[in-house]
Amino acid sequence: MDRDRLLRELSDFLRIPSVSTLPAHNADCRAAAEWVAAELRRLGCRDVQFLGSETHPVVWGAGPEVPGAPTLLIYGHYDVQPPDPLAEWTKPPFEPTVTGGRIYARGSADDKGQVFCLLKAIASLDKMPVNFRFLIEGEEEFGSKVLFDLLKREPQRVEADAVLVADMSYVAPGWPAVYTSLRGLCYAEITVRTAKSDLHSGEYGGAAPNAHEELSRLLTRIKGEDGRINVPGLYSAVRRPSKTELAAWRKLPFKEKDFLEKRVQGKALVGIKKYSVLERLWALPTFEIHGILGGFTGEGAKTVIPAEATAKVSMRLVPNQKLRTAERQLAAAVKRLAPKYVTATVRFLHGADPAQIKLNHPAFKLLDQAFKQVVGRGTVPARAGGSIPVVPALASAGAPVILTGIGLPDDRLHAPNEKLELKQLWDGIEVFGRFYELLGNSR
Ligand code: BES
Ligand code: MN
Ligand code: MN
Repeated sequence: MDRDRLLRELSDFLRIPSVSTLPAHNADCRAAAEWVAAELRRLGCRDVQFLGSETHPVVWGAGPEVPGAPTLLIYGHYDVQPPDPLAEWTKPPFEPTVTGGRIYARGSADDKGQVFCLLKAIASLDKMPVNFRFLIEGEEEFGSKVLFDLLKREPQRVEADAVLVADMSYVAPGWPAVYTSLRGLCYAEITVRTAKSDLHSGEYGGAAPNAHEELSRLLTRIKGEDGRINVPGLYSAVRRPSKTELAAWRKLPFKEKDFLEKRVQGKALVGIKKYSVLERLWALPTFEIHGILGGFTGEGAKTVIPAEATAKVSMRLVPNQKLRTAERQLAAAVKRLAPKYVTATVRFLHGADPAQIKLNHPAFKLLDQAFKQVVGRGTVPARAGGSIPVVPALASAGAPVILTGIGLPDDRLHAPNEKLELKQLWDGIEVFGRFYELLGNSR
């Protein structure tokens, strides 16, 4: 395949600012869906459909019929996270730049570059080895509501012999992975109100309650300095990984020191000290503050006591926890931890149950072989700290959901200067091509 041409095509896809959480980008999301649809048609898909939404449609496709061959459903997403803070990008996020063997752009690794890889792997083959089905959605980064509703109405869309999801990374360069769990997510806004309106901080300061102060105190009560989350009941469903699994993690090419110095690039790691870093990242719930709104944040100075403050927060959930339960527990904790003289409310924006995947289906062996043949090492089982809301629904018809990917741990997903290594892309096209052929020959 002509690599220059592939890079031009990928750049066209990455240039579309399909930020699903911002209504101003609705037309861009639609344009990215059109790009995917055109690509599916080029692969010979008979009926390409836009489902569930005008602005963030799920793109459905069914490849040419291959009688007797297994059916493989490919899932991915064409939407991306907001690119801010813009000032920290070396090159603009939606002007894809190829340099030093990498392509830099929002969506390069998460997930447009990987969707591109899965599709070009099909295009690289002489003949269709399996019956392909496609569900490429445009709202993954905002909770996948459109796709959830679609699958509730039409659960047969996920009927297949296997489902392939390439939306994660190797565990280290040269170490491809297959994932046995994803964390769930519970995203909320916590709002604290302390008075009818803002007040002069001289006239009232010293005696009137301050919404930002109350909100800060509430937030630090919810998660203490020791890293424990003080939401009653939150940990009761959490199961520790088995001894075998913990032992396997110790053999992975992961060093806490490197994680701190090369990836976090901070001065210390935090969290519950008695658990290893991987256990904190993969097998324990989290509480994170994403942003705080309210009060005066403009240029200059204003002496005011804010009457309202809002924090955007989320909790990650681990296998055996439930989104609905976690929502109830968080709402109850906020009520309990806020003082009587403030009004504290919680609004849930979106969320996802955690996912757990057993690797006992033969298709996992085939992916392992494909990686071994192309990159020289098979897949290691790992867990993912991130979430893909729709994965439990993709598994609901009984097909094994293969969670893998061609990214690297330092791709900077959701952050400035997101990138994809071109070697990962070229290898990935070969790996998935091989995988499709192996799967086709498996029957
Ligand atoms: N591709 C990621 C999920 C991911 C990241 C899995 C890293 C494994 C490792 C996905 O696009 C994502 O970011 N999901 C969101 C979901 C949320 C907005 C509902 C997430 O995890 O924050
Ligand atoms: Mn993704
Ligand atoms: Mn993402």
